[in-house]
Amino acid sequence: MEKPIIQLLGLLFFVLIGSSCSKNKEFQEISIIPQPVKIEQTMGSFEVNPKTSIVVQGEQEETLRIASMLAEKLQTATGFTIEVKSSTINDAGKNTIFFTTDDADSNLGQEGYQLSVTKNKVIVKALHPAGHFYGLQTILQLLPAEINSTSTVENMAWKIPALEIFDKPRFQWRGMHLDVARHYMPLDFIKKYIDLMAMHKLNTFHWHLTEDQGWRIEIKKYPKLTEIGAWRKESLVGHARDSPRIFDGKPHGGFYTQEEAKEIVAYAKERFITVIPEIEMPGHATAAIAAYPELGVTGKPIDVATYWGVFPDIFNVEEGTFAFLEDVLTEIMDIFPSEYIHIGGDEAIKDQWIASERIQGQIKELGLKDEHELQSYFVQRMEKFINAKGRKLIGWDEILEGGLAPNATVMSWQGIEGGIAAAKAGHDVIMTPIQSLYFWTYQGNPETEPLAAGGYITLEKVYQFDPIPDELNAEEAKFILGAQGCAWTEYMDRPENVEYMVFPRMSALAEVVWTPKELKNWDNFVGRMSKQFKRYDFIGLNYARLPLDIGTEKPQ
Ligand code: ACM
Repeated sequence: MEKPIIQLLGLLFFVLIGSSCSKNKEFQEISIIPQPVKIEQTMGSFEVNPKTSIVVQGEQEETLRIASMLAEKLQTATGFTIEVKSSTINDAGKNTIFFTTDDADSNLGQEGYQLSVTKNKVIVKALHPAGHFYGLQTILQLLPAEINSTSTVENMAWKIPALEIFDKPRFQWRGMHLDVARHYMPLDFIKKYIDLMAMHKLNTFHWHLTEDQGWRIEIKKYPKLTEIGAWRKESLVGHARDSPRIFDGKPHGGFYTQEEAKEIVAYAKERFITVIPEIEMPGHATAAIAAYPELGVTGKPIDVATYWGVFPDIFNVEEGTFAFLEDVLTEIMDIFPSEYIHIGGDEAIKDQWIASERIQGQIKELGLKDEHELQSYFVQRMEKFINAKGRKLIGWDEILEGGLAPNATVMSWQGIEGGIAAAKAGHDVIMTPIQSLYFWTYQGNPETEPLAAGGYITLEKVYQFDPIPDELNAEEAKFILGAQGCAWTEYMDRPENVEYMVFPRMSALAEVVWTPKELKNWDNFVGRMSKQFKRYDFIGLNYARLPLDIGTEKPQ
């Protein structure tokens, strides 16, 4: 990793990383989130004006598309018509924003970029288009927050401070999850969520598509999954712990057609985000079993769940059920080209397996010790199928119980212990511990905050999380691919509420997964957040406007 270099250029000049107040008017404030690896600020600035153009060296189709995205964004807020063209020479002349691969540093990797801003031009260098895309994101953050406006802002000086940036991510998996099963979220909001992820240089969208309370993806071979499984007759009002339970009496549901899901995959891909679909098994299967009771252990008809919790209904282990799951995953893999397919695996209560003579007989026939080994057998069968299609299986950390499937990646949610065990056993790991990265928790005083699942995870607590546990040596640490924030939506029934719970915590997460550990600094981050809040305002985000210094202790 590059050592951070923050240069002080003579006595007159200050290098400002993140400070919101500039004592020296020669320097514009710089508030980039996530904090780049290296920034050297110099004097002056580049000003975007009606004559500015964007130039892409060579016939780089992807980068031309990125350049057009930048032009569109600039045009919307500035009102200027920004021309995009390609050039055969490695020089674009004055008043240009120039994208090139020439002379890009060989250490930039897949996603890194270099940005050079002088009075005359802006140059974005990268080895790959993803780097150009992240360069674009940084340019937007160097401009006034008004650049995020969805209408023309008059009388602005659209200045980009002169500087040199070298930047690349710390982790390859920079994820956000969204549960659309507890509450269906409209397609436009999924796109907004993806845009916000892109702004934060996150690259993996974990789409939690099936649950006890709803099945949200069209499967052509099994239409009842969405005819029946996508709808529940009402929803719980208040907390799952409340007694007696109160319901709203209103049907809730919805699902994404395969065409819509493909639209999301394509939209995300244009923003260098991979969509990882999750299909839950063997537990969290109430909606699927409500649609097809023969998939369950009892065979009895059940309803899609209407309240929150962990439910007893679990898939059986009949050949017909494996065939069903393989058919479902086949259609899923046709929609989602991701390397990883998430099969859930969490919170599968084994009571029905324990009570069933048929299942107990199958455990004996298979030579297994208990229900945990049966779950492991289940997951290993799915892994063989997924691997045979050239994909990789990922599951929540319960897939460690009863023996991990040979090639599985573990998402460590109950804490970091599952991740430590998996990494020590040579398996890839994504850290998403409930204690630090679950955004369904309170982020401020529960007395005054909207109803949440519980817990207390402040912005600072998210910020201070480090995905690499001390228990791992350097070799083992290589198995930690990155980290992810989770947005479970039991207590978020509409997009505005998701926004409130996820923001500003997504901004802290961005720095957890992108910024070199030695550069992370909470006070500095707080300084940079004031401009981030302005950006949120122009984007029209319903974020939690909590004070940033509320600390990590629960308020009394
Ligand atoms: C989980 O929160 N049940 C993965």
